[in-house]
Amino acid sequence: MKPTPNLPQQHAWTLEDFHGRRELRKSSDKPGAGVRSDWKSLRLPDGANSLRNQPLGRAVGKEIRTAVDATAGLGYDTYALALLGVEVLALERDANVFALLADELARAKNDAQLCAAAARIQIEHASAHQRLPTLREKVGFTLGLFTAREFILPDMILLDPMFGGERGAAKPSKEIQALAATVGADLDADALLDMAIASATQRVIVKRSRLAPPLSGRVPDWTIKGKLLRFDVYRAGAR
Ligand SMILES: C[S@@+](CC[C@H](N)C(=O)[O-])C[C@H]1O[C@@H](n2cnc3c(N)ncnc32)[C@H](O)[C@@H]1O
Repeated sequence: MKPTPNLPQQHAWTLEDFHGRRELRKSSDKPGAGVRSDWKSLRLPDGANSLRNQPLGRAVGKEIRTAVDATAGLGYDTYALALLGVEVLALERDANVFALLADELARAKNDAQLCAAAARIQIEHASAHQRLPTLREKVGFTLGLFTAREFILPDMILLDPMFGGERGAAKPSKEIQALAATVGADLDADALLDMAIASATQRVIVKRSRLAPPLSGRVPDWTIKGKLLRFDVYRAGAR
């Protein structure tokens, strides 16, 4: 993998090992106090039912069975989709963020509470710009639901690029700070929208800060609004 193209390379956060798990640490952090992914922190007491009425669940709807999370980051949305029963291929291009995603998936597969949804997740260290156009090829994408299909296109693609590093919160969380310093703003994200619409059979969902302009300036077919975030939904009909 080439390094992420838009990175202003910052070295304030480094990937360190702590008892066999990796974390992104600032020089001021004690070992163990770094940023990891932690899907349990989503606190969904009623599992998928807790999600169905939330904005992401409403944007996904009930028909979606397969998805590509093209900008997976720490995988919280990936896990939420899997909890909704969706088989997910998650793509992350930054090597350090991918390491945290891979560690959390490995941990989740061995966790009684998370393992059922985790079994529906595959991850790839890949750039969506390069991977989305290859989704029709069977190589590397062997989700059970697709094995009988001629084409291997997902029902849905989720895009959640970094947008200037902020998410509408007054003070960004430590996770957001680590991501913003590690991957920067995803300045090349606009091009992903057309690619995604050409590669999904039903819909593309773009997660945005509440007041951010639509990705690529393209007006969505409909929008689901949350308090800080919104989900712009685009119809797709790839065949
Ligand atoms: C805002 S974060 C995603 C957060 C994620 N939705 C979650 O729930 O944890 C955006 C991530 O997308 C990744 N990314 C951006 N453009 C990408 C691309 N073209 N291919 C793969 N990953 C990409 C960035 O490296 C970053 O980790």
